[in-house]
Amino acid sequence: MPDGLKALYPGTFDPITLGHIDIIKRARKVFDFLVIAVASNLEKKPLFTDSERVALIRNSLDKLEGIEVTSFDGLTAKFAKSIGATAIVRGIRAFSDFEFEFQMALTNRKLQPDVETVFLTPDEKHSYISSSLVKDIARRGGDITCFVPDAVKIELAKKYPS
Ligand code: COA
Repeated sequence: MPDGLKALYPGTFDPITLGHIDIIKRARKVFDFLVIAVASNLEKKPLFTDSERVALIRNSLDKLEGIEVTSFDGLTAKFAKSIGATAIVRGIRAFSDFEFEFQMALTNRKLQPDVETVFLTPDEKHSYISSSLVKDIARRGGDITCFVPDAVKIELAKKYPS
């Protein structure tokens, strides 16, 4: 990627939802380049593998211009520094997200003082979506059309055949 303001958007993305895509679009208005990085996050026991989550993100975005999708293991702050990102983007959906995000932002700053955390808020219509909620609805045969991109809907249907 050429020079320009680069940010890292890390997350578990198990799977990506329309709420994440909303944050990605907003982040691209602020930063020239955005690296979306899937954290292995084995504590969360993801339904999709790292490479499946990366593929789902790529297949869910209309435009990949100025965007790179990858996965990483280890510390987010260290990874941000290694790719030359000046910022870590995180989405805040509701006040309940704030405490955890604030703690992460301060910890990441301690680990990597020259990488700032930037908080963005999604459209309020996406403020209650979470990946777990979407998986729960899909597993029980509910309609998830208004929560996820088509690519995710197709792959979730394969994971949870009716
Ligand atoms: N729209 C919809 N859902 C959203 C969202 C948005 N805009 N923003 C967050 N979410 C949801 C996610 O779907 C997820 O839902 P789930 O818990 O049901 O799976 C939840 O909010 C949190 O997801 P995410 O934003 O992906 O954060 P995370 O907690 O899964 O990931 C990491 C946090 C990966 C960034 C963090 O654990 C990390 O940095 N790990 C690497 C190790 C490290 O550096 N540790 C020290 C950190 S200080």
